[in-house]
Amino acid sequence: MQSIRVLIVDDVRNTRESIRRILGFDSDFEVVGEAGCGSDALRLAELLKPDIVLMDISMPDIDGIKTSELLSFRVPNTSVIIMSVEKDSDHMTKAMLAGAKAYIVKPFTGNEVVSTILNVYHKEARKREIINSPSIPQTSEKESTGKIISIFSTKGGVGKTTTAVNLGVELRKSHTFRVLLMDLSLQFGDIASFLNLVPKRTISDLAQVNPIKEEDIRFHILSHSSGVDVLAASTRPEYAEMVTPEHVQQILKEIKLHYDFILCDNSARFDDISLTSLEAADEIWLIAGMDIPAIKNTKIALEILYSLDYTPKIKLILNQYNRRIGINLKEIESSLGKKIDYVLPEEEQLTSVLNKGIPFVKALPRSAMALETKKMAKDLSETAAQKSPAENEKNKGTGLQKILGLGR
Ligand SMILES: Nc1ncnc2c1ncn2[C@@H]1O[C@H](COP(=O)(O)OP(=O)(O)OP(=O)(O)O)[C@@H](O)[C@H]1O
Ligand SMILES: [Mg+2]
Repeated sequence: MQSIRVLIVDDVRNTRESIRRILGFDSDFEVVGEAGCGSDALRLAELLKPDIVLMDISMPDIDGIKTSELLSFRVPNTSVIIMSVEKDSDHMTKAMLAGAKAYIVKPFTGNEVVSTILNVYHKEARKREIINSPSIPQTSEKESTGKIISIFSTKGGVGKTTTAVNLGVELRKSHTFRVLLMDLSLQFGDIASFLNLVPKRTISDLAQVNPIKEEDIRFHILSHSSGVDVLAASTRPEYAEMVTPEHVQQILKEIKLHYDFILCDNSARFDDISLTSLEAADEIWLIAGMDIPAIKNTKIALEILYSLDYTPKIKLILNQYNRRIGINLKEIESSLGKKIDYVLPEEEQLTSVLNKGIPFVKALPRSAMALETKKMAKDLSETAAQKSPAENEKNKGTGLQKILGLGR
């Protein structure tokens, strides 16, 4: 293994020296530099492009949080590990929002710092491997098959599942497309409960099968009365880790031969699973909320998506829009530096229809939210209509029926 190149940033010289000593015992590491303040850290990181920056928080000029945030834009392939005496969740949250990959509390042992660096380094290397993996064809090389839409946000609860479920039902209801909702929010996915389905079989069960064949996928798919099919998330969070990025790749590759639209509902994190679905997607629908943290997180998400070269496939959706909040659309667009493609307004009755397990496009078809969702589906149907007639001929029956060999 190539050694992991580390930059140590701390205003206390003794701390820097003791970390250098710890890492010096292990040939896995090479300390490429030291900085005693934020501005030196930025300069050295840009120059040396280390794999890892060990970053203190309290520093004389730019603090470690701000420095980490700047580094995440300027040297995106460098991972920051914050080391601090502060152990409250407020500092940890700020560090994570600034793009840090891990947080260790001072004083730490040599083992702790070594294992944290190894952990972060390997995880990030794996992420890059997936992103560059040739096993997912690039858009131009894709067979002409179903469209994958990956619905994502970097803040939870902004409406990913609401959008995925209702868009799916609308695509089926008004345009008779074959739609699969794939719940990749593996730990706490709730597509099944949004649709009042009991997930007897889930993606975690499917992941136990090796190799995964078409009939195995068919066996694990649930059918909803709307005609939409669902591959449900794990019923318990501890089963989520049975599903690997390779499983997701395999399933998507097979399933897009049988559906017109595959809507992937992700967790609110850049992890291996969501990165796999973002990479495989034809379109990424980034959902933003109206509050300042949601807007801030959306901005960070956009920066990361741009750095992954996903710019042409991003659509931006603002959910729970409420005029009374006092921020207007123009201000949000200018703060995000991107035009909003769709605006879903806040809908007071949503929770009550959600609790009944009825999609709002069915329960509240005249609501502003449903009308905007219809527009989304119509726009998608127009792009699908540009496919060849032979392609459209395949549009018979639900995907499940199609796999089963039954027509509509
Ligand atoms: N436009 C809206 N108006 C009112 N309530 C909404 C709206 N959109 C979503 N909600 C409500 O917000 C809550 C969270 O929505 P949802 O579960 O779709 O978010 P999510 O992004 O999937 O969350 P998570 O990250 O936890 O998976 C739900 O109770 C939903 O009913
Ligand atoms: Mg969700």
